[in-house]
Amino acid sequence: MRRYWKYARPYLSAFIIGPVLMIVEVIGEVVMPLLLKNIIDKGISEGRGIGYIIMMGITMIVTALIMMAGGVGGAYFAIKASTGFANDLRKDMFRQIQKFSFKNIDQYNTGSLITRLTNDITQIQNMLQMLLRMALRSPGMLIGALIAAFALNSNLALTILFVIPFLSAGIYIILKIGFPRFTLMQKKLDALNTVTQENLTNIRVIKSFVRESFEEEKFKKANTGLKNSALSAMNVVIFTIPVMTIAMNFTTLAVVWFGGNQVIAGTMTAGYLTAFVNYVFQILISLVMVSMIILNGSRTLASVRRVNEVLCTEIDLTDENASQKDLTVQHGKVEFRGVHYKYYKNNEKWVLEDINLVINPGETVGIIGSTGSGKSTLVQLIPRLYDADQGEVLVDDVNVKEYSLKNLRNGVGIVLQKNVLFSGTIMENLRWGNEDAPEEEVYRFAEYAQAHGFIS
Ligand SMILES: Nc1ncnc2c1ncn2[C@@H]1O[C@H](COP(=O)(O)OP(=O)(O)O)[C@@H](O)[C@H]1O
Ligand SMILES: [Mg+2]
Repeated sequence: MRRYWKYARPYLSAFIIGPVLMIVEVIGEVVMPLLLKNIIDKGISEGRGIGYIIMMGITMIVTALIMMAGGVGGAYFAIKASTGFANDLRKDMFRQIQKFSFKNIDQYNTGSLITRLTNDITQIQNMLQMLLRMALRSPGMLIGALIAAFALNSNLALTILFVIPFLSAGIYIILKIGFPRFTLMQKKLDALNTVTQENLTNIRVIKSFVRESFEEEKFKKANTGLKNSALSAMNVVIFTIPVMTIAMNFTTLAVVWFGGNQVIAGTMTAGYLTAFVNYVFQILISLVMVSMIILNGSRTLASVRRVNEVLCTEIDLTDENASQKDLTVQHGKVEFRGVHYKYYKNNEKWVLEDINLVINPGETVGIIGSTGSGKSTLVQLIPRLYDADQGEVLVDDVNVKEYSLKNLRNGVGIVLQKNVLFSGTIMENLRWGNEDAPEEEVYRFAEYAQAHGFIS
């Protein structure tokens, strides 16, 4: 929780003003039935006349306008606070992913990171907005209406307690059954995003091998998986609301029954009963809202865990402890001393085992081996895309861990096996390594790479 305080702080005023304005709406909601009661009892039954009724009517209109202002303002600040919060959280999560080492990236698949960055954070944002608008409003309305109801007629108010066991059961079921299903639903969304992302990145390969129908089948499976898990999660929602509604309706029925008898017996006025029924509605509506908050909360909890997982991922490769941060690569001597490496700790076999190698500046060395023999792995240790498990990799006789990552990677050029163009112009792509490279230089290097002919 403490981690999230940071995202709330810049919007603190909105976080406070929003719910406070909602209280204005709640107070109006509690006052309204009393005004209505006055119209019925004093205006009509006691016969105070049309002037009194109009005055009460005007008071009701003014109350409604104040309530509206409160409601609009409350919603405005709730939206402002929650979107700001989500924006900052998303920014931090993106920044964290940028810091990921290759090994960290290997832990997640791209689809899952996209879902977490978009859908999960949006879920948190919506929940926050709901909380800001309802968290004070529903319990406030509940308490206000309960007090008013007990003040009007405490015997009748006890009827309301009838509904409590049903609601508690409903809330228990939501938490018990709903939470795992919502977690599963997010996982299925991950799977769908992964399949989609894989498909779109490799669409040319798929077309070349005429594998469209196979891919369609794969997508269908992921899509159906998401549908089924969403249906199973939504079944919980489907069941809870009618259970609550029926509890509400029975309570109203009981109140009207007992209250009606009192009105007939003359121990209560019609205005009292009308106001009372209004309060019963308010109480029940706020109870339903509270259960909706809890339901949404259990869904959000699943998203919070997934966001936390990314935020708490320990970056296993940094240059924080580098001793020569200002050192840059000058000559380009590369040396491996007893280097061992494997991708997973529990693997028995090393991918690289006791590699000893010196490449002097100016030398050209080709490394030959069958696919999977570890050529790429070996090369990736030089710019520290991965860290050796044992032994040392040195550039210009300095352990690569002692350079700042920026200087090391600036000094070691690497052409990855799979290359991509970023959105933008070719010039922007060519300037990717150095934004300020003068145009002539870009052209010169394009010629070196024998690319000048086909891009100019
Ligand atoms: N990101 C990775 N995660 C886990 N294993 C990997 C990863 N990259 C490569 N490997 C494994 O390491 C071994 C060496 O791979 P690699 O260095 O790519 O070989 P080469 O480039 O010689 O074909 C292979 O067994 C491969 O499956
Ligand atoms: Mg390779």
